[in-house]
Amino acid sequence: MLKKLNFVRLCIILSLFSISLLSADSMEQKIDDLLQKMTLKEKIGQLNQYTGSAKFTGPVQTENRKKLSKAIKNGHVGSLLNVTSAKETRAAQKLAVENSRLGIPLIFGYDVIHGYKTIFPVPLAQASSWDLAQVEKANKVAAEEASAAGVHWTFAPMIDVSREPRWGRIMEGPGEDPYLASQLAKAQINGFQQNDLGKINTIAACAKHFVAYGAPVGGRDYNTAEVSDYTLNNIYLPPFKASVEANAATFMNAFNTVNGRPATGNDYLVDKTLKDKWDFNGFVVSDWNSIGELVPHGVAKNSKEAAKIAIKGGTDMDMESTNDAYLNYLPELVKNGEVSEEKVNEAVKRILRVKYKLGLFEDPYQYSSQQREKETLLDEEHLKTSRKLAEESIVLLKNKNELLPLSKDIETIAVIGPLADDKDSPLGNWRAQGGNENAVSILEGIKQEVKGDTRVLHAQGCVLDKNNARGFSEKVNINTNDTSGFAEAYQTAQKADVIIAAVGETAYMSGEGRSRQNIDLPGVQKQLLKKLRKTGKPVIVTLMNGRPLALPWTDKNIPAIVETWFLGNEMGHAVANILFGDTNPSGKLPVTFPRDLGQVPIYYNHLPTGRPSSDDIFATGYIDGSTQPLYPFGYGLSYTDFGYSDFSLSSREIEMGERLKVKIKVKNTGDRVGEEIVQLYIRDLVANYSRPVKELKGFKKISLEPKEEKIVEFELNKNDFTYYNDNNEQIWEPGDYRIMIGKSSNNIKGEKIISIK
Ligand code: NOJ
Repeated sequence: MLKKLNFVRLCIILSLFSISLLSADSMEQKIDDLLQKMTLKEKIGQLNQYTGSAKFTGPVQTENRKKLSKAIKNGHVGSLLNVTSAKETRAAQKLAVENSRLGIPLIFGYDVIHGYKTIFPVPLAQASSWDLAQVEKANKVAAEEASAAGVHWTFAPMIDVSREPRWGRIMEGPGEDPYLASQLAKAQINGFQQNDLGKINTIAACAKHFVAYGAPVGGRDYNTAEVSDYTLNNIYLPPFKASVEANAATFMNAFNTVNGRPATGNDYLVDKTLKDKWDFNGFVVSDWNSIGELVPHGVAKNSKEAAKIAIKGGTDMDMESTNDAYLNYLPELVKNGEVSEEKVNEAVKRILRVKYKLGLFEDPYQYSSQQREKETLLDEEHLKTSRKLAEESIVLLKNKNELLPLSKDIETIAVIGPLADDKDSPLGNWRAQGGNENAVSILEGIKQEVKGDTRVLHAQGCVLDKNNARGFSEKVNINTNDTSGFAEAYQTAQKADVIIAAVGETAYMSGEGRSRQNIDLPGVQKQLLKKLRKTGKPVIVTLMNGRPLALPWTDKNIPAIVETWFLGNEMGHAVANILFGDTNPSGKLPVTFPRDLGQVPIYYNHLPTGRPSSDDIFATGYIDGSTQPLYPFGYGLSYTDFGYSDFSLSSREIEMGERLKVKIKVKNTGDRVGEEIVQLYIRDLVANYSRPVKELKGFKKISLEPKEEKIVEFELNKNDFTYYNDNNEQIWEPGDYRIMIGKSSNNIKGEKIISIK
C-alpha cells in the first residue's frame, strides 16, 4: 500500500516534469502548475535549507536527525548542504521524493571551492595562473566529481575582490583586480555549468558573496565594509555582473554590512540591482545564518523581523538560520499581510527553475551514482589536470644569478622547514572531500624528481605544535616560539650543496574566520631562515600561504623565492618540476605584496592623489618607509626572458564605440621555452571622476620557443572605456586615454595616448 502511494506521488511529479527539452515557456507553465498545488507551508519549505551531514542510511541517532527526516517528509526542506556521496544524497533524496506529499526533489549544495575529491590549487593560486582555459577545465573536473557524488550545486565561485591581505578569505578569491576577477568568474562558472545544467556531469554555480565581503574593516572576517558607492560600483560589483552574464545559476548573500546596511536583505543591492537591473533569474541563498544575523547586526529585533527584511530584500533561500526564520515566521508574515504571497511565490519559482534546469524533476536520482562516483573520483586524468594548473599557478618572485632551475646532478639537497614534509597544508582550506593521504608533500615531490644519485636530506627546523591555537590549524600550528629543532636543521643543511626551505602558513591559517594581524612568516620561521643562511649555502625559499605576506627581509637576503600557495594534491610534483626546470614558471601575482603591513591597503589600481608620491615631504607617502610594494600586481619571473617591441595602435583618434587594436611584438630572448602573460592597461587621463592610475583591460598568456617572437594583439571596445558613477550609471566620456602594455602593472613596455571623440 505504502509503495503504491509512493509510486503515485512519483507519477504526479514526473508527469508534471517529464520531458527534458521543454521550452522555457512550458517550463514556466509546469512550475506555475506545481505552485498551484503547493500549500503556503510547502512553498516556504522550498526556501529552507538545512545542513545534513549525518548519515541518512544509518540508524537515526539524534533528536535533530529525526526532526530533519520529518521536516523533509513534511515538505519543509527545499535543500540540504553538506550531504556528500552518492549513497547519502540518494537516501536523502528518497525522503523528499518518495515520502513528501508533492515529492519535490531536494537540491544538494556543497562548498566545492577548488575541487571535490581531486583538489586543485586554492582560488588565489588559480588566479595566479591567469590561464582561463585551465581554470575552466579544473572546475569542470570538480563538477564531474561532485555531481557523481550527488552534489547538484557548488557554493562557488567566490569572486570577492580584495585589497586586504589580513583577511583570511583572500585565499578563496580572485585577488585585487575587477577585470581579472570577472574573467575568472566566467571561467569558473563555465567550468561548473558547461552551459548546460541538464547534463549529469555539470553542477549549478553560486557567485558569492554579494557584495563587498572582501573589504572588511581591519581585515577582520565578517566585519563591516565601508566602501564608497563609486568604489562599490567599479571595483566590487563588476565580477558579479560578469557572473550574471555568464548565467550563474545562483548567488549568495554576504555576511557583512555595506555602508551601514547588511548585504543580506539589502533590497537596493539584491532586488533592485541584481534581480531587476541585471535581470538575474536564478535564486539567491543567504549565507549560513546571515538572515539570523540581522538581529545582532541591529537591524531586526527578532527572527521574525529578520525573515521579513530578508525576503523583501530578495533572499530566496534561508541557509540554516537560527530559529528557522523563514520556516517559522514567513507563514505568519504572509497571513498578516506583512509579506505578500507573491514575494514567496517568486522565490519558490526561482528555486524550482534551477531544480528544473538541473533535470531533477525528470530523474531526481540521476546525479547520485555510486558507479560513476567510483569511476570518477581521483581519476588519473583529474590529477594531471590538477598538476598542470598547480605548475601554472606558481610564481617565481626572485631568482638571483639564476640559482634556479636546479640541476638534477646536485649531490646533496637539504629540504628544510615545517612545511616540507607536510601533506596536509598542500590541500589548503575548503578542501571538500580531499584527503591528505592523496597529497604529495614538497619533500616527496623532490625525492621522486631527483631519484638517481642525489641525496635528499630533511629536517623540520620548526616544531609542529599539535596544540590548537585559535584558527591556526586543526593539524599543525607553526606559530610557536620553539627553536629546539634549529640545531638539527643547521647540521642537516651544512651537509648539503643547496637548501630548499619550505616555509609559510599552514592550510588553516587562511580561509573563513582566519584573519591575521601580522602578515609575516609566523613563529620562528624567519629565524630559521637566518640560521640556514649562516651555512653559506644557497637557500631557496618555497612559500606556502593563502594571502600576500610582507617579507622584506626574505626578499633582501634569500637569493631565490618561489610563491607556491596551496596547490592541491599534486603540490610536491608541481613544485619539484618548477625547481628543477621541467616546467618554466609562468604565474603572475593577482594581488599586491606589501613591504610592510603598514602599507595596507595597497593595490595597483589606486586613484591618483593631488600630491603624487615623491621625495617631497608634502607629497603622499610615509616618513618611515616606501610607498612601493614588495611585489606588484601582475609580477612574476621566468627562467627565460621576453623582449617587447613594436607597440602600435590601429589609430590615435577614434570615435566612441569604434574598436581600437593594440599590438606588440614579444620575443623569447632566452634559451628555454616559456610562457608570458602580456598585460594591457589603460588610464583615463581626464574625467569627471578621478580615475585609477592603471586599469587592467586585457591579458594574453602566450607560449614562445627560444628566440621565437609573436605579435600579441588586443582589441578594446566601448565597454573598456567606461566606468560607473556613484549612482551606478555606466558612463562614457570622450577624451584622452593612455594605452599601456607590460609585463606587470609596474613594468610597462609600450604606451601611447589615444584620443576618443
Ligand atoms: C559560510 C561561508 O561564508 C560560505 O562561503 C559557505 O558557502 C557557507 N558557509 C556554507 O558552507
